[in-house]
Amino acid sequence: MPGPASILITGASSGIGAALAMSYAAPGAHLALLGRSAQRLAEIAARCKERGAMATVLALDVTDQAAMKEAIAGIDGRYPLDLVVANAGIAKNQESPDFARQLVGTNIVGMLNTVEPALEAMLPRQRGHIAVMSSLAAFRAFGGPPGYAGSKAWARLYGEALRGRYAGKGIAVSVVCPGFVATPMTQGAAKGGMSAEDAAETIKAGLARNLPRISFPRDMALRTWLANALPDWWTDRAIRRKWQASQRK
Ligand SMILES: NC(=O)c1ccc[n+]([C@@H]2O[C@H](COP(=O)([O-])OP(=O)(O)OC[C@H]3O[C@@H](n4cnc5c(N)ncnc54)[C@H](OP(=O)(O)O)[C@@H]3O)[C@@H](O)[C@H]2O)c1
Repeated sequence: MPGPASILITGASSGIGAALAMSYAAPGAHLALLGRSAQRLAEIAARCKERGAMATVLALDVTDQAAMKEAIAGIDGRYPLDLVVANAGIAKNQESPDFARQLVGTNIVGMLNTVEPALEAMLPRQRGHIAVMSSLAAFRAFGGPPGYAGSKAWARLYGEALRGRYAGKGIAVSVVCPGFVATPMTQGAAKGGMSAEDAAETIKAGLARNLPRISFPRDMALRTWLANALPDWWTDRAIRRKWQASQRK
């Protein structure tokens, strides 16, 4: 089966989104690259074009509902979208009350602002694929930032619910759940994590198979699954001990 020809990626100016754009860049493909930094997007677009793809830069904030609706409809009018990756996101280890609210705006409302116009474009032709960027933190935060984990749990359930709702209407929905990937978002915290390029290849392979959930790296996904399968008291104690050990360092 040929891969998607028209792809829109939010958060394409950095990390996983930029690596995904590069991975899909090939002759015959059109990439709509969305993010706030016009300069970084232009750099990624130039690299995609070097690989023979066409690319359009959409320098936008995903929290701007009207601008997102107009931009996605505009791209779809010129290059009917096969795949939309709702990837833009923010995270911080220490979440101030202000930042916790920004998280809701970007990771949750920004996703709605991406997915709703994408569905509007895809539903009449009963064809298209939407990828929702969640995280392994959506299953268990392990003492990580609560607002972020909450936003990713929302994304996971939202994507899973969309998949069920639109299964009979020709729209595929996949939920992507990375663990640690070495990107600007994780900086030093991603020791032992996957590279953004490997993450992009894993996501691309999972999307090609229309997997409902794409979780990686495998060992981290397995540990997360195990933590949820074990009794809550056991997991809770293990998390507390890990936190206490980190405070002694
Ligand atoms: N790295 C990991 O270990 C990991 C693990 C699990 C899940 N994830 C998820 O994967 C996604 C990508 O993360 P990453 O690690 O690649 O991070 P990253 O390198 O920091 O990239 C984040 C991207 O989101 C864009 N973005 C942020 N706020 C935006 C806004 N308001 N409007 C438009 N674009 C916005 C940024 O672009 P601009 O700055 O140009 O706006 C950037 O392109 C996120 O949703 C993240 O939560 C990452």
